[in-house]
Amino acid sequence: MKRTIVKMPGDGIGRVVLDEAIRVLDAAGFEADYVEGDIGWEFWRKEGNPLPDRTVELIKKHKIGLFGAITSKPKEEAAKELAPELQGKGYVYSSPIVGLRQMFNLDVSIRPCHTYEGNPLNFIRRGPNGEIEEPKVDVVIFRQNTEGLYSGVEWSNPPEEVYNAFMTHPKFAKKYGNVPKEELAISTRIFTKKATERILRAAFEHAKKYGYKSVTVCEKPNVIRETSGMMYQMAKEIQAKDYPEIELWNTNIDAQMMWLTKNPEDYGVIVAGNMFGDIVSDGFAGLVGGLGFAASANIGDDVAIFEPTHGSAPKYAEFDPPIVNPIAMIEAACMMLDHIGENEKAEKIRKAIAEVIKEGKVRTYDMLKMKGAQDVIEKGAATTTQMANAIIEKLK
Ligand code: NAI
Ligand code: MG
Repeated sequence: MKRTIVKMPGDGIGRVVLDEAIRVLDAAGFEADYVEGDIGWEFWRKEGNPLPDRTVELIKKHKIGLFGAITSKPKEEAAKELAPELQGKGYVYSSPIVGLRQMFNLDVSIRPCHTYEGNPLNFIRRGPNGEIEEPKVDVVIFRQNTEGLYSGVEWSNPPEEVYNAFMTHPKFAKKYGNVPKEELAISTRIFTKKATERILRAAFEHAKKYGYKSVTVCEKPNVIRETSGMMYQMAKEIQAKDYPEIELWNTNIDAQMMWLTKNPEDYGVIVAGNMFGDIVSDGFAGLVGGLGFAASANIGDDVAIFEPTHGSAPKYAEFDPPIVNPIAMIEAACMMLDHIGENEKAEKIRKAIAEVIKEGKVRTYDMLKMKGAQDVIEKGAATTTQMANAIIEKLK
C-alpha cells in the first residue's frame, strides 16, 4: 500500500528544501502520496493560527510528516503583522513546531551527526606531532523533547501560592526568602520517570539496532541531583537489566562541550534532557558541517515528524535561484525512511550524498565557506537544485 506523507513546507527556505527532498525520495524509488499541510507565518497572518486545525487533522490521519521550517517572531512583533481584521482580537502567536511536539507528544528527538568524507566543513585538529587529523564523527543524540526547561512551567513575580510552596524548601527560604516576589523569575526543570524511561530506552534500542558500543548520558547529576540524577540512575538500571552488552558512559554537559573537539570520534549514542540535548546536538552538528547538514526526528507513539534543524533563513528565501544546502532536509527524509522501515532506500540516498560530497564537484555556498549572497552562484557555488540533481544523478 502506498503511504501518504503530510508535507509541511512552512516558510522561507523550508519551502525550497522540502521540494528538493521529495524529488530525491522519488528518485530513490520511494512511492508515496503527499498531502500538503498549511503551517507557518502566512497562516498566522491570515487566520491568526500558524497551525490550522486542518493540518492537525491531516497529521492525525496520516501519522508521518515532513516539515521544512517556519518563521517565528516575538509576540508583539507577531501581533503587529496580523491581518487588519484580526488585530486586537486576542490572537497570541506560538511556534507551531513546538506546538506539534506537545500536541502529539513527540517526546523522542533524534539528531544524528556524522562526518561525510571530503566535506570541507568537517572539523580538523592537530595530532601529537602537529599533523592534521580529521576525526570521523558518528554520533546520534537522543534529546528528550517535551519536558525539562522547555516545558513552559515558569513565572515572573510568582503568584502567592507558588511562592509559598517554594518557601517550604529550606534552600529557597535561605537564599531567596528576602528577595521581593516581583524581583523573582522562576523556570522549572521537571522530569517524569515515564518520559525519562522512554528517551533512555529509545537511545539504548538505537545503539543496539545500529551497533553502537556505548550510550552516554550527558547531564549534570553531581549538581542537578534530582532530575539529572534520576536520569543517570534510571540509565544504570535499564542498562544493567536489558542492555548489558552496551557500555553506559556518563559525562557532564559542560565537560562534554569542552571535550567536543578533543575526542568526538569516541562517542556513539548520547542521551540527554531537553535543554542539554539541544546544546550538545548543536555542538556536534558544528563538527560535521552545521546547519546545512543537521537533521532531526520528532517521534511519538503514534506520530513522527522529520525536519532539518535549521530555520527559514528569511534573508535567502527570495533568492532566485536558491542557494541553500538541501542536504539537512534530505537527511531528515532519510530518517523518515528509516522510521517506516525503508532502510535500504535511506542508505541508498546517504550513499549518493556521500559520493557527491567526496567528489567535491558540486558544493553549495556554505560548503565553500562563502558568505551567503546571490552572487555565490557566479563564484562557483552550486544552487540548491544543482545539489539535489547531483544526488539524484548518483541514484541512477
Ligand atoms: P536559520 O537556521 O534560519 O538561519 C541561520 C543561518 O544559517 C542562515 O542565515 C544561513 O546563513 C544558515 N543556514 C540555515 N540553513 C541553511 C542551509 N540549509 N544551507 C545553508 N545555510 C543555511 O536561523 P535564524 O536566522 O536564527 O532564524 C530564521 C527564522 O527561522 C526565525 O524566524 C526563527 O524563529 C526560525 N527558526 C525556525 C526553526 C524551525 O522551523 N524549526 C528553527 C530555527 C529557527
Ligand atoms: Mg536548537
